[in-house]
Amino acid sequence: MCGIIGYVGGAPAIPVLLAGLKRLEYRGYDSAGLALQAGDRLVALKSVGKVAGLAEKTRQTWTPEEQQGPRVGIAHTRWATHGAPTEPNAHPHFAAGGGIALVHNGIIENYRALRARLEAKGHVFVSETDTEALARLIGEAYQGDLRAAVLAALRQVDGAYGIAVLSRDEPGVIIAARKGSPLVIGVGEGECLVASDPAAIIAHTRRVIYLDDGDVARVTADHVDIVDLDAARIDRSVGELGFAADAVEKGGYEHFMLKEIHEQPEALRNALRGRLDPRQGTAILAGMGTSPRDLAEIRRIVLLGCGTSLHAGQVGEHAFGELAGISASAQQAAEFRYRNPLVDPDDLVVAISQSGETADTLAAVREAREKGALVLGLVNVVGSTIARETGRGVYLHAGPEISVASTKAFTCQVAVLLLMALRLGRGRRLSRERGAALAVELARLPELVGAVLAREAEIAAVAERFADQEHAFYLGRGPMQAVALEGALKLKEISYVHAEGYHAAELKHGPIALLTPGTPVVVLANRSPIRDKVLGNAEECRARGACVIAVMTEGDDAAGIDAVLRIPDCDPLVATIPAAVALQLLAYHVARRRGCPIDQPRNLAKSVTVE
Ligand code: AGP
Repeated sequence: MCGIIGYVGGAPAIPVLLAGLKRLEYRGYDSAGLALQAGDRLVALKSVGKVAGLAEKTRQTWTPEEQQGPRVGIAHTRWATHGAPTEPNAHPHFAAGGGIALVHNGIIENYRALRARLEAKGHVFVSETDTEALARLIGEAYQGDLRAAVLAALRQVDGAYGIAVLSRDEPGVIIAARKGSPLVIGVGEGECLVASDPAAIIAHTRRVIYLDDGDVARVTADHVDIVDLDAARIDRSVGELGFAADAVEKGGYEHFMLKEIHEQPEALRNALRGRLDPRQGTAILAGMGTSPRDLAEIRRIVLLGCGTSLHAGQVGEHAFGELAGISASAQQAAEFRYRNPLVDPDDLVVAISQSGETADTLAAVREAREKGALVLGLVNVVGSTIARETGRGVYLHAGPEISVASTKAFTCQVAVLLLMALRLGRGRRLSRERGAALAVELARLPELVGAVLAREAEIAAVAERFADQEHAFYLGRGPMQAVALEGALKLKEISYVHAEGYHAAELKHGPIALLTPGTPVVVLANRSPIRDKVLGNAEECRARGACVIAVMTEGDDAAGIDAVLRIPDCDPLVATIPAAVALQLLAYHVARRRGCPIDQPRNLAKSVTVE
């Protein structure tokens, strides 16, 4: 979950690298550094903390003229995996003698053995990182050809990497390689960039080459040459990025998270575009890539994901059961991959991931494929590893999601899962009438979410009642239990208020002991056959002094509720989306009131590409 950017071209490299790191900062931000080619030397700078600190240090270290000099460089923003966030542990790391610099995203799993071998040869390590072992290994293998040295070193490495490497002896050359950590090459006019995420490239070019696992590229200002780990040449096509540069700007919002919350009507329009057939009461999902017959033979569905994506899968579990009559289970990807999962060839496995790079989800995909299951990806980032490894699936089209807290990706994941359930259901017992009614509701989603967004001021006022609390509970039943979990996660990860999501009936089996007067309890009490049960659970909490905040359908009686977050009347499965948006806004305003960083919460990163 680190951010890497490299530049080689005709422009001053420092401004390009610093601007690129700002784009990548959501991936990890506990320290940063850069290495530059300055004549026949490599110079480097590192700093603890966010990219702004590195930029300041750059200004303090080099004059404006000096900063205009270097045309080649690599840079890194770190999310620590080995070693604390200190300056010595910040990237870049160097080979012995300082002639080769490396930045790395991933984990070298056999680094201890490599380090022991190198230390036995007299190497004196200056950091606690796994990365330094790789840098020194490259230096050991260097005999005048940087890519050959990188190949020789990578052949000794177990683990995941996305790397960019410079040598003072090969000016104008960046070696880039990936295995398990994303890396994309931007091909501009007389310049090339290497980055962990296209968002860092889009300001320069929309022409990109996505590296695959095992690729090792030699990148110069006007040429990209790729080989595999056996040094055999590989052809990779140059693609076109599907979003414009301003998509990664804040657009006047105070935080990316608020922008992305408000983008949800548009994101949902994009997710649904061309995928609904109200007349037939079904969904059109070419990406599922299977014939109606194959779909009809699916006996079970396993939904894999982590964090918010797992919560989307938990909504999907209800949707597949209710609409398609198919047994479905949402499983935590890390658990799935290590439990020798019960999956067989007539199972459908759906891997849900915004980034398409989450290590546990990717590993679970590989395990499911090993078991012969049909595996689909439900991914937002086009060209991401999970999207490419599943080979089929449905893109969210939610647009770049920059804020670490996932919002529009979640609602688009749920919308697409509802489309999939509708599609499968209509191939089974779901009637055209019920399908058509659901299709109409789904088509209303941008409007339903818009209605919640229009109530932001009311929600912000409710947030005021939260802001000084340190504990909160979120309760739901049916598909809204997943929304309760998601609402609690949003609050935790951006406001640092400890929040627990529970099935509404579960509280009295122990956790209710934690209630004290004023504890906020958020209940999902939208119009549904089980609404009154949820309100009964809310009353149990209120009887113990809790402050009950209810998500309720417009027009429903809110007697006995301390605060209400209204959502429009709609199908209970569809209501999960406007309800989630209300809780996103609630969490956002609590975090804002508490002065939290919101887009880059402490300890977090946007894409967890390590186990
Ligand atoms: C959600 O707000 C978090 N950022 C986190 O739980 C995230 O959903 C999880 O890490 C999975 O990421 P993915 O969707 O990119 O696989």
